[in-house]
Amino acid sequence: MTVMPSVVVLISGRGSNMVALLDAHLPLRILAVISNRSDAQGLEQARSRGIPAEVVDHRLYATREDFDGALQGCISRFQPDMVVLAGFMRILTPGFVRHYEGRLLNIHPSLLPAFPGLDTHRRALAEGVRVHGCTVHFVTPELDHGPIVAQAVVPVFPEDTEALLAHRVLSLEHVLYPQVLRWWAAGRLRLTPEGRVEVAGRPAWGPSGCYPGPEQ
Ligand code: GRF
Repeated sequence: MTVMPSVVVLISGRGSNMVALLDAHLPLRILAVISNRSDAQGLEQARSRGIPAEVVDHRLYATREDFDGALQGCISRFQPDMVVLAGFMRILTPGFVRHYEGRLLNIHPSLLPAFPGLDTHRRALAEGVRVHGCTVHFVTPELDHGPIVAQAVVPVFPEDTEALLAHRVLSLEHVLYPQVLRWWAAGRLRLTPEGRVEVAGRPAWGPSGCYPGPEQ
């Protein structure tokens, strides 16, 4: 019997991407959800689905290194094959990132390398971009800059508000992240030693603006 690959999901708040991963019934084991905030809504969502939910409160640690050490300790209790950042709002230290090199994914609400950091939808509107979206990438020490796995594109309309645009992007995040984890679980996603992403199978546009698309 083959053992399904396993992940731990890190969140800080709402947790809608984490719920999308749980509800996609992917061929992987979600061993635990860990939050740096005890009031993260996503914790209850995880528990109600029978997933262990833990808190490593960043305010209890004097330095980023101390917090990341505690976080790593909590993750290592579960021995996951992959660590999935889903709205985890802490900057991670280079030591932590290097420890999980090739085993750490993030979803970011913009078409990287445009708009790394916070307030991506407001900045996209301010710049007048005509397309916007989200990116799943491997995490490297530089914030929001790692090798890109997949992106999903949405139009930006003249009448858009930040909330409307955020909602449009988020609904595609909920498609894109499960899709990437499905490739990974099937052994189709690889980060080469040169830092390039390979997805086995012919990439194609998906029906919902995702590239590569989910059907390939
Ligand atoms: C998402 O937009 C994600 O891309 C970003 O933070 C937000 C988290 O939302 N990193 P949620 O907690 O998954 O609902």
